[in-house]
Amino acid sequence: MSDNAKSRAATLAHLRSADFAKGDPIPLPLTMASIFHAPGDATGFDQYGRFSNPTWHAVEHALGHLEDAQCVAFPSGMGAISAAFFALLKSGDRILLPSDGYHTTRALAERFLKPLGVAFDVRPTASILDGGFAGYRLVFVESPSNPRLDICDITAVAMAVHAQGGTLIVDNTTMTPFGQRPLDLGADIVVSADTKAINGHSDVLFGHVASRNPDIVTRVKDWRETAGGIPGPFEAWLVHRGLETLEVRFDRMCSSAETIARRLKDHRAVSGLRFPGLEGDASHNLARAQMERFGFLISFELASEEQAEAFIDGCPLIEAATSFGGVHTSAERRSKRGDAVPPGFVRLAIGCEPVEELWQAIETSLDKVAN
Ligand SMILES: Cc1ncc(COP(=O)(O)O)c(C=O)c1O
Repeated sequence: MSDNAKSRAATLAHLRSADFAKGDPIPLPLTMASIFHAPGDATGFDQYGRFSNPTWHAVEHALGHLEDAQCVAFPSGMGAISAAFFALLKSGDRILLPSDGYHTTRALAERFLKPLGVAFDVRPTASILDGGFAGYRLVFVESPSNPRLDICDITAVAMAVHAQGGTLIVDNTTMTPFGQRPLDLGADIVVSADTKAINGHSDVLFGHVASRNPDIVTRVKDWRETAGGIPGPFEAWLVHRGLETLEVRFDRMCSSAETIARRLKDHRAVSGLRFPGLEGDASHNLARAQMERFGFLISFELASEEQAEAFIDGCPLIEAATSFGGVHTSAERRSKRGDAVPPGFVRLAIGCEPVEELWQAIETSLDKVAN
């Protein structure tokens, strides 16, 4: 971890203490309120639950500390992505999306942007620079892409998009601000499904938009307040609590993923293994240059749908689940969700279990399906 990341991690838990009065609770209190005492001049304080809430302020402050940007919280990752699109796009615009990223982002464009006159094209993440960005009001990338873990050069994409007058959004869900810093690399906006590693306990959906451009932040906030897609205070409180251990969890998950990916590569049942941290992976050189860690997602193929299901179900330390980033290791056969991958393609999301115990369970289950 870089010195900057260590310093952000160290101060995260003490962000609130600068404003403490004697007797204040040290952990964040939860404010469940739709109305606030609001006599006289109606500016500069919390007034109504759709406008603001002290628990949101705290989680946005903590996220902003990690992103080094202003953050706007949403009730899910898709809520954050939708807000960025609907706040910035207008009829006649054209946008570019990854063909191999999270499928619901493309569904949003197809089912809700296109009918409003916003056209979209798709390109694979690894070759997103090919063809340039002329005519695109907005370019959206997900690096590494979920689930194949391809990477694009975010700095090069940002420069090329800006040269054409466009805006670059990076979905940084799989990396968190501790693994990759797209705003430092030149992106205009980060969106994140905090449902995943940022909350980390698989008990809440959440998301955020981060930007260092005040106009973008104002528009996104205005969209939230007007459209009403606001996070619940309790969810914000849970995410704030999750954030306090993000660095510890993420560090463990990424380190374990490095160990497990190396061992999986040598297993006879496994083919097509992808992990950006492995020398020889198509993403490795770029990953070394632009990511602070290699992440906790690994993808690979087993011979058939049956083998993949048997591997997942037969491993007592893997939960069969369609998400990632939680303390529990989980896995899913992604063709089940409509991703364009073979039936035996598995996305494995490493959790916080001790790595040797986790590997033993994975190896035993793989040995069983390979026999
Ligand atoms: C990369 C990525 N972005 C966005 C989302 C959407 O997040 P949410 O389910 O919180 O709406 C997901 C969900 O899996 C995702 O994997």
